[in-house]
Amino acid sequence: MLILGIESSCDETGVALYDPEKGLLADALHSQIEMHRLYGGVVPELASRDHIRRVIPLINAVMDKAGKKPSDLSAVAVTEGPGLAGALLVGNSVAHGIGFALGVPVIGIHHLEGHLLSPLLSDNPPKFPFIALLVSGGHTQLMEVKGLGEYSVIGETLDDAVGEAFDKTAQALGKAYPGGPAVSAMADMGQSGVIDLPRPLLHSPDCNSSFSGLKTAVMNTIRKHSGPLTDEYKNDLARAFVDSVTEVLVAKSLRALKHYGYKSLVVAGGVSANKQLREALRSACGKRGVKVYFPPAALCTDNGAMIAAAAAAHLKEISEGASEKEDGFSIKPRWSLEESGRA
Ligand code: KG4
Ligand code: ZN
Repeated sequence: MLILGIESSCDETGVALYDPEKGLLADALHSQIEMHRLYGGVVPELASRDHIRRVIPLINAVMDKAGKKPSDLSAVAVTEGPGLAGALLVGNSVAHGIGFALGVPVIGIHHLEGHLLSPLLSDNPPKFPFIALLVSGGHTQLMEVKGLGEYSVIGETLDDAVGEAFDKTAQALGKAYPGGPAVSAMADMGQSGVIDLPRPLLHSPDCNSSFSGLKTAVMNTIRKHSGPLTDEYKNDLARAFVDSVTEVLVAKSLRALKHYGYKSLVVAGGVSANKQLREALRSACGKRGVKVYFPPAALCTDNGAMIAAAAAAHLKEISEGASEKEDGFSIKPRWSLEESGRA
């Protein structure tokens, strides 16, 4: 069985070839970050046009890399939503075109389910059930995952996503979008406890979070600072920001694990690449006998491999050709993960 995965929901064109028995055979990615940087954020129309330019050459590249030809494909997996409508249309048109031409099923995957199941691509994959912490540029959610397709949100951010707070903090510290990795690197050089920032909702009796106030606190701290903005000062501020974020996310994850009685935590989404968050979660979970799982570092942000792997998890439907449609196809720019359940 060979699955082609296509991701085009935002500003990354990702494609991959995945064999459920052999694992990931090849993957390729084009990031549009440089193109959008000029405008300070993602420009949807430019994103769609760039996906059009990239997707076929990337598919050819993974085919070559894996030594496969189109007739070897058993199924095509594609991000059906949520995301930018025009960007989704590109990936879905290509996926359904290939599916129609080859007579193979096309499996529409929820983008967040792709992230959620991306630790299946690691050497140490998790088993159901588990609590999942999804931390990306657009989402910050804790989910109870009882099994494949059985996802319930048990807590989420009341305002900004944590990735967004990383990006805004990076901007305030003079770093380009998306600034998560830059803030993490600065925090590594900074010292804890020099600058004090709030821990929003740390003690609230639920699994919700809030990062908008923290982002404002970073900006206010910079504004009120009377001395020069030295590298040392910026690094200490990045450290204070990362300390606050990790403390809150660790506390909320532990609360969810305890309240719902789970011993496994899956962390996924772009921010799951964050070194300090990984270390803090590993240490806190280790002390409590909780197993914690992450995607491989290179597959934390958007990619085609996680979409193909999520489709592989739904193999039964693939073999039944459940998603083969004769009347065209749909995209779902707005789509809740809870409603996406298939199992
Ligand atoms: O999952 P993703 O690629 O896209 C969405 O679906 O949103 O996540 C992108 C987010 C950005 O906000 C980026 O700054 C953040 O993930 N990110 C990081 C790191 N790598 C990416 N944040 C903190 N530390 C990192 N190492
Ligand atoms: Zn994503």
